[in-house]
Amino acid sequence: MTTRGRITDAQSTREAAHAAVEYDRWFASTAPRAAFFRWLMSQPAQLLTNGPALRLPSSLRLDAATRMLDIGCGRGALLRALDDQLHFDTPPVGVDFSRAALALAARGAPVTAPRLVGGSASALPFRDGAFTLVTCGYLAKHLADDELLPLFAETRRVLAPGGLAVVWEFGPSGDRRLDAWNSRVLSVTSRAPRLRSSATLRRVAAEAGFEFTRDANLRPFLLPPIARASVLVGRPPEGWRERQSPAP
Ligand SMILES: C[S@@+](CC[C@H](N)C(=O)[O-])C[C@H]1O[C@@H](n2cnc3c(N)ncnc32)[C@H](O)[C@@H]1O
Repeated sequence: MTTRGRITDAQSTREAAHAAVEYDRWFASTAPRAAFFRWLMSQPAQLLTNGPALRLPSSLRLDAATRMLDIGCGRGALLRALDDQLHFDTPPVGVDFSRAALALAARGAPVTAPRLVGGSASALPFRDGAFTLVTCGYLAKHLADDELLPLFAETRRVLAPGGLAVVWEFGPSGDRRLDAWNSRVLSVTSRAPRLRSSATLRRVAAEAGFEFTRDANLRPFLLPPIARASVLVGRPPEGWRERQSPAP
């Protein structure tokens, strides 16, 4: 690695640590806006904030054998909602860099017990190919452009062949003034949120090596009423390449 590469890495690590502290503070804040956003991340609000993601079990034909990872799991509400539907054989895993988020997640309904792990989206603390489904909702806006590629590269690394990942985030509306307003609404930490289109997410996923990328078209999300971008990306099953170009 070059000196410049090392400096950039050290800077990103520092920034991520700073962002985690900011998130910890925000999760503990009693301000009404913070309380509202924390409620949006709770299980009772899932239908409003993550409604289309609750349909993933049927649209992706998932079953109990699915090994699920949720990156930036927050309060762990999505893990529990999908486990309620699928009754996973292996407890689903949530990773988040905020200790306060994980503490809230651990306090969730005790019927199911997701595994909650502290860690960063750009250096996931899991072995290669550990999961068959990775979800990542509302995290990408916190990442600078040079942090988005590691998110997708790490997602691809921890996916088993044939595994799928779905990433969704608030997206641009096409109107500059509305986007500026939305960014203000969404800036829960001091970092300005980055609103990116599904096409941008797909491009970065392809750069990270994903062979399969498409617009996931997840909608409608009801709250907050801001446009969303979403992508479905995947690793081909083993032997796929050989089947594409059979030996002459
Ligand atoms: C807006 S919340 C969304 C939580 C959850 N996905 C949901 O839909 O309710 C974003 C979460 O991502 C976490 N997060 C943000 N950047 C992260 C990073 N670089 N690595 C790990 N977690 C991160 C935050 O701590 C927070 O819990």
